[in-house]
Amino acid sequence: MNESEQQVAVVTGATGGIGRWIALGLARAGHHVVMIARDPARGNAAAAWIGLRVPSSSIEVQLADLRSMAATQRAGQEIAARHPRVALLVTMRVCSPRVGRSRPKATSVCWQ
Ligand SMILES: NC(=O)c1ccc[n+]([C@@H]2O[C@H](COP(=O)([O-])OP(=O)(O)OC[C@H]3O[C@@H](n4cnc5c(N)ncnc54)[C@H](OP(=O)(O)O)[C@@H]3O)[C@@H](O)[C@H]2O)c1
Repeated sequence: MNESEQQVAVVTGATGGIGRWIALGLARAGHHVVMIARDPARGNAAAAWIGLRVPSSSIEVQLADLRSMAATQRAGQEIAARHPRVALLVTMRVCSPRVGRSRPKATSVCWQ
């Protein structure tokens, strides 16, 4: 399957925990996986971890610290510019800027 035929999946929280395993599963299933990472080294390490297990995988790392609404929106715009069609969005970590002591309901705003 070439890259233009692959479905694009975006995974937040993809550098560790459940998100990394989900990213691995999506890569195994043939998706082009966009991993959101706040730290470039951790993002690249997670992409390499998947590459070792799925040599045919197609992975890219998008940097964004999801504590920042602006950074989250910028990441969404950059992904949309590269991938007009995103088949799947897996949010293991949502945009969660703290405003005072409360958190805004951010998921729908962040990914509009
Ligand atoms: N594990 C469980 O048993 C369990 C059960 C029920 C629900 N959940 C929920 O499932 C979700 C994932 O759980 P998990 O255990 O897999 O979590 P985790 O191991 O803590 O992984 C969190 C992921 O989110 C990333 N992350 C954290 N803050 C970020 C930020 N500001 N910007 C960008 N990325 C950020 C981390 O990146 P870094 O690598 O940079 O740290 C890591 O990739 C959580 O919402 C948790 O509440 C988990």
